Amino acid sequence: MEKTFVLIKPNVIKKKKAGAIISRFQEEGLEIIALKMIHLTKDKCEEFYKEHKERPFFKELVEFIISSPVVVMALKGEKAVLKVRQIMGDTDPKKAQKGTLRFEYGDSVGENAIHGSDSLKSAERELALFFLESELFE
Ligand code: RTP
Ligand code: MG
Repeated sequence: MEKTFVLIKPNVIKKKKAGAIISRFQEEGLEIIALKMIHLTKDKCEEFYKEHKERPFFKELVEFIISSPVVVMALKGEKAVLKVRQIMGDTDPKKAQKGTLRFEYGDSVGENAIHGSDSLKSAERELALFFLESELFE
C-alpha cells in the first residue's frame, strides 16, 4: 500500500467542485486517511513548490495557490502515487484525456485544478509538510 499527497487548487475551490474531486478518488478505490482545508502562507507555498523555484512561472504559481484556501489530502491505496497521477491527467488540461480531473476541472496549465505527488519520495516529503504522522488515519 502506498500513501500519496493531493492538493485541490484554488480554481476548483472557487468553482465549488472540491467535493466532486474527493468523490472521484473514493469511487476509484482510494482511501482518504487525512483531509483539511487550509490557506497557505507564501513561505509555506514556496517550500512546497521549491523544486520549481528557478522556473519562470514560479511567482505566478505561488500567487495562484495562495489566492484562496486549498484542500489537502492524504490518500492510501495500491499504487496510489501512479493511480492519482493517472486520474489527474496531463499537466496541461488541453492535453489531458477526457475523463481525467484536469480535463474536467482544469482551466489552464497554471490553473490545472489539482496537484498530486509525482513519486513516493515526493509523497513522503509533501505529506510531512502538511500532516503530522498522528493525523494520518491508517
Ligand atoms: P503538479 O506538481 O502540480 O502535480 O503538476 P505536474 O507534476 O503535472 O507539473 P509540474 O511540472 O510539477 O509543474 C508544477 C505546477 O506548475 C504549474 N505550471 N505552470 N505556466 C506554466 O508553463 C506552468 N508549467 C507548470 C502547474 O500548475 C503545475 O501543476
Ligand atoms: Mg509536479
